[in-house]
Amino acid sequence: MRLPLPQVERDPALPARVTVYEVGPRDGLQNESAVVPASVKAEFVRRLGAAGLDTIETTSFVDPRWVPQLADAEELLAALGTEGRGATRPVLVPNVRGLDRAVEAGVGAIAVFGSATETFARKNLNRSVAESLEMFAPVVERARGEGMWVRAYVSMCFGDPWEGPVPVAQVVDVCARLMDLGCDQLSVGDTIGVGTTGHVHRLLEGLDAAGIGPELVGVHFHDTYGQALANAMAALQDGVTVVDASTGGLGGCPYAKSATGNLATEDLVWALDGAGVETGLDLDALVATSAWMAGHLGRPSPSRVVRALSGG
Ligand code: HMG
Ligand code: MG
Repeated sequence: MRLPLPQVERDPALPARVTVYEVGPRDGLQNESAVVPASVKAEFVRRLGAAGLDTIETTSFVDPRWVPQLADAEELLAALGTEGRGATRPVLVPNVRGLDRAVEAGVGAIAVFGSATETFARKNLNRSVAESLEMFAPVVERARGEGMWVRAYVSMCFGDPWEGPVPVAQVVDVCARLMDLGCDQLSVGDTIGVGTTGHVHRLLEGLDAAGIGPELVGVHFHDTYGQALANAMAALQDGVTVVDASTGGLGGCPYAKSATGNLATEDLVWALDGAGVETGLDLDALVATSAWMAGHLGRPSPSRVVRALSGG
């Protein structure tokens, strides 16, 4: 039994309730060298749901040659049954081929994923930024027609390992073009974890000025430089209420070498619990899930909260 910590002191600068958008099964597992069987992935998703996570991104319908770790998307969806369907179980889809597969598997929500920079668009999607938007347009249109919920990711919003600093105006421009396709939610990605809090405020201001208010935005921070939690809290002060996180801090992007794990769900929940922000999440169940998954991956969780609470 853990101590009843953190002590709760309501932080009035933060929203009353935050939705954690869990990306562990997708962003986390896409970057693991260990092959995780579909049955274990299904159990992971089930455990995350049981810990109170509402939205769980389960897998990707990308070219399996590009991301072999998620080549079992169909098998996973079949193993999950109704639990893998509906508007709160999104999957990544880059193109019409991926959408065909997702529709066939019965998914109810998708995420397309663009890039704020040309170099990463080329490396991750084999296309320029403009060509990737052309690739997404029919995907979003048809997905909406099928009644699916659609998220739009934009990577490299805070810096790019090949191009260096990325101007806020350039990021806002790509975000606006993607949202104009008809997406329901935007997720701004710090793929390589270099952003800091002032940068978060400036980007959210820029998006708001372009008509993309905080109610439409999720934030997606990788923790390479230990800034992810601070950046998430900064975004929440600006009215954002959706934060992407990965249980155990798994994650990375195979096409961006300097990307490490996402903000750990447990680290976020500790901070939000302490600040009196409702998440609906059971921290102990999340920690137990991370410890269980670490056994399958053969390496300990990088999350500080997981380590502290599991005594490791
Ligand atoms: P391409 O090679 O240009 O594709 O790749 P293509 O359209 O020319 O097709 C080539 C072949 O791939 C064809 O087969 C297609 O059928 C097949 P062939 O005729 O040669 O036998 N193919 C597919 N097969 C299955 N499912 C599909 C599919 N599409 C094509 N969906 C493509 C273009 C976009 C497909 C490729 O670049 C790709 O799959 N990229 C995905 C990369 C990826 O998943 N990256 C990680 C996720 S993004 C991320 O992690 C960042 C994020 O977390 C936010 C952040 O942190 O910033 C979201
Ligand atoms: Mg990511």
